[in-house]
Amino acid sequence: MQVREMRAGEEAALHAVFHSAVHRLACRDYTPEQLDAWAPSNRDPDEWARRIAQIRPFVVETAGEIVGYADLQPDGYINHFFVSGAHARRGVGTLMIEHILRLAGERALAALSSDVSRTAQPLFERFGFRVVEQRFPVVGGVTLCNALMRKDLAGRAANPRATGVDSKARPSRAMLGLRRSKHRGEEDGTD
Ligand SMILES: CC(C)(COP(=O)(O)OP(=O)(O)OC[C@H]1O[C@@H](n2cnc3c(N)ncnc32)[C@H](O)[C@@H]1OP(=O)(O)O)[C@@H](O)C(=O)NCCC(=O)NCCS
Repeated sequence: MQVREMRAGEEAALHAVFHSAVHRLACRDYTPEQLDAWAPSNRDPDEWARRIAQIRPFVVETAGEIVGYADLQPDGYINHFFVSGAHARRGVGTLMIEHILRLAGERALAALSSDVSRTAQPLFERFGFRVVEQRFPVVGGVTLCNALMRKDLAGRAANPRATGVDSKARPSRAMLGLRRSKHRGEEDGTD
């Protein structure tokens, strides 16, 4: 398995991973209505491409296929973290967290955080993330549930721009990739 930056033109492959992760893996923890709200099948490809461009993800590739992707924002927030349903429980998620921890070290981040689905919480806990707060984002009129999780990276706050995470100082996000709409008081994304 190889970890590398996403290349232009791979947006649809990432969407396939995202859709399969939600509908084939998170389906154990969420209702069909919640899954459809989180990962609708009729997503506008241009809107998806814009969203992916904003987060600048890395991918995991094996045998020429993208099997997972994730990101690390400059403030230590992980926005997306998804593994293809066909490649679950083979260490792809572990590889992605290990890569994020390496990047965090290089960037001297003080902390990592993410709004983590029920499905992903055991994996994040295994790497020392702890629940800060349970959250209930509303997406497309449907209430989901996740948890803001955080991992402190002691002694790595050397970079003054890498302030880590202050959940009170940042806009509320929920469920990796869901941001609160400026207009409707609802989460505006479904990734
Ligand atoms: C959560 C997710 C990223 C895990 O990816 P993965 O590649 O299967 O994870 P790994 O194979 O590295 O798993 C490592 C360990 O994490 C834990 N783990 C992973 N998935 C788990 C699950 N569904 N239930 C319980 N523990 C789990 C286990 O301890 C596992 O070790 P084991 O397989 O030896 O028991 C993947 O299931 C996924 O994409 N889920 C759906 C989408 C999602 O919820 N994404 C995160 C949004 S916040």
